[in-house]
Amino acid sequence: MRSRLVGFALVALAAACTGMRAPPRPAVPTLRYGSVMVEIGQRFHQLGLAATSSNWPLLDYFARGLAATWEADLRLAVAPGPQDIYAEEEVVDLFKAQLRARQESFAKAELTALAPAIAARNAGALEAAFARAAAGCNACHRESGHPYIVIPSSYGQPVPQYLR
Ligand code: HEC
Repeated sequence: MRSRLVGFALVALAAACTGMRAPPRPAVPTLRYGSVMVEIGQRFHQLGLAATSSNWPLLDYFARGLAATWEADLRLAVAPGPQDIYAEEEVVDLFKAQLRARQESFAKAELTALAPAIAARNAGALEAAFARAAAGCNACHRESGHPYIVIPSSYGQPVPQYLR
């Protein structure tokens, strides 16, 4: 009898609590991985254009923008999943565990090679860093089930490349 009373009390308490639920929070906009990649592609393209005219201050600007987008926005972006219609799902699932690690290693290895070449105004080093970065972009695209997203390794071509 007593335990039944306790049971009733608990049910009543639970009902009261649901009535007191905090008001819903406004939805926080989420960044899609693919949308951030669109921006990264745009910045990489602009960097390549600035390189064709050896515009060093502009190159510095684009390299910083690229790094900032990579460091801040891509880290916050939701990993590709069922919400993304273009990926090959099985590959994406397999790759998911590696995505963040690959993202970080690309930032440390390939992406950081651009800034010192620009700071030194070394055209040869910049060309090599650009090609190396593009190879890194493409390796990740292949492995994540997006082999058709091809980033050109030389300056002034559209990013991504439409013709091969
Ligand atoms: C760590 C892995 C990884 C690296 C490195 C990477 N990407 Fe991506 N990229 C992706 C994935 C995954 C997608 C597909 C995202 C989606 O649509 O959900 C993508 C998509 C893209 C797209 C297509 C976006 C669209 O929807 O139109 C462009 C452009 C792009 N990447 C540019 C680049 C460039 C430029 C680099 C190198 C500077 C780069 N990516 C490096 C993983 C990577």
